[in-house]
Amino acid sequence: MRELASFRPQDELMLIDNLATQRYASLFGLPASCRFMEADVTAPGFEEALAGCFAVVHLAAMTDAAGSIDRAAEVEHNNFEATRCVARAAANAGAAMIHLSSTSVYGIQSAVVDEECGPEGLKPQSPYADTKLREEAWMRENAGQLGLRFVTCRFGTIAGVSPGMRFHTAVNKFCWQAAMGMPITVWRTALHQRRPYLDLTDACCAIEHIVSTELFDGCIYNVLTANHTVDEIVSAIRRRVPELTVTMVDERIMNQLSYEVLDRRIRATGFAPTGSIDGAIDETLRLLGSRAIRTTNARAIA
Ligand SMILES: NC(=O)c1ccc[n+]([C@@H]2O[C@H](COP(=O)([O-])OP(=O)(O)OC[C@H]3O[C@@H](n4cnc5c(N)ncnc54)[C@H](O)[C@@H]3O)[C@@H](O)[C@H]2O)c1
Repeated sequence: MRELASFRPQDELMLIDNLATQRYASLFGLPASCRFMEADVTAPGFEEALAGCFAVVHLAAMTDAAGSIDRAAEVEHNNFEATRCVARAAANAGAAMIHLSSTSVYGIQSAVVDEECGPEGLKPQSPYADTKLREEAWMRENAGQLGLRFVTCRFGTIAGVSPGMRFHTAVNKFCWQAAMGMPITVWRTALHQRRPYLDLTDACCAIEHIVSTELFDGCIYNVLTANHTVDEIVSAIRRRVPELTVTMVDERIMNQLSYEVLDRRIRATGFAPTGSIDGAIDETLRLLGSRAIRTTNARAIA
C-alpha cells in the first residue's frame, strides 16, 4: 500500500480487509492518500468503495498453504468466493482487476515450467494452491461475460519486510527462527528443491507495472525475483547468523517436487525484477536483529 501510494501520489488508494489476521499494524501511519474500510469481500457492502475506481488489486485470501490442510473447506470457500465477489464488484464498478495467484499451482519433478505448461505441470499440493487454480479457471471462464478486464499473477513466495509482514512462508519463517536462536525447520524432502521466490519490492513494482501499462489482457503471468534451493536460502541466512542449525521435519504437504519457474512472459512486457532474495533476507534479519526475544527453550545465538 505504501509502495503503491509512493508510485502514484496523485491517486487515492482504498484498502479493504476484514482484519481476520488482526494485522492492525499494516494500517499504522498510512499516507494521507490511503483510506481503509473494514469489510469482508464475500459479504455485501464493500462494493460501494469501488465506485470510480480504476483498478482493483485482489489480495484478500487465507494464505497459509500448510495450515490450509486442516481448514480446507474454510480456505476454499473464503478464497474462491472472495475472488468471485471481487471480480463481480470490479466489473460493476468498471474497474480492471489484478487477480493474485501463486506459483504453488505448479508441481512437477525437476523441471522448468512456464505459464503454458499443461495439466502435467499443474499439481497443486495444498487446498490453498488447489483453490488458486480453480480461481484462475473461474476468472478465465467468466471475465468476458462480466465485461471485466483482468490479469492473473502467479507470485513466487514473498520475502522481505513490511509493517504487517507474516512469518509463515519459507524465507520469513527461516529468518525468524534464525533471529530467535532456534534451529531452522526444513521439510525433509525440500533442502535441494528449487522453487521461485519474490522480493516484496519486486511484487510492488510488478503491480505498479501492470496498472501503469494497463496490462489487463486476461493472461497469466509468473512474477518472481529468482529460483533458489532451500539450501541456498539457508546459506544466505548462515552468512549472517553463522551459529545457525538446521532441523529436518516432516510436513504433510511435503513432496518430492522441484521446479524452476520462468518469467519470460512478464519480462517481455517490459518488467524486470531488480530485487534480490539475499537482500530481503538481509533486511529481515536486520529488522529482527538484537531486539529478538528468545524463548526459554531456544538456543541463544550469542
Ligand atoms: N505471501 C506470499 O508468499 C504469496 C505468494 C504467492 C501469492 N500470494 C497471494 O497474494 C495475495 C496476498 O497475500 P499476502 O501474503 O499479502 O497474504 P496475507 O495473509 O498477508 O494477507 C491477506 C489479507 O486478506 C485478508 N482477507 C482474507 N479473506 C478476506 C475476506 N474474505 N475479506 C476481506 N479480507 C480478507 C486477511 O485479513 C489478510 O489481511 C493472496 O492472494 C496470496 O495467495 C502470496
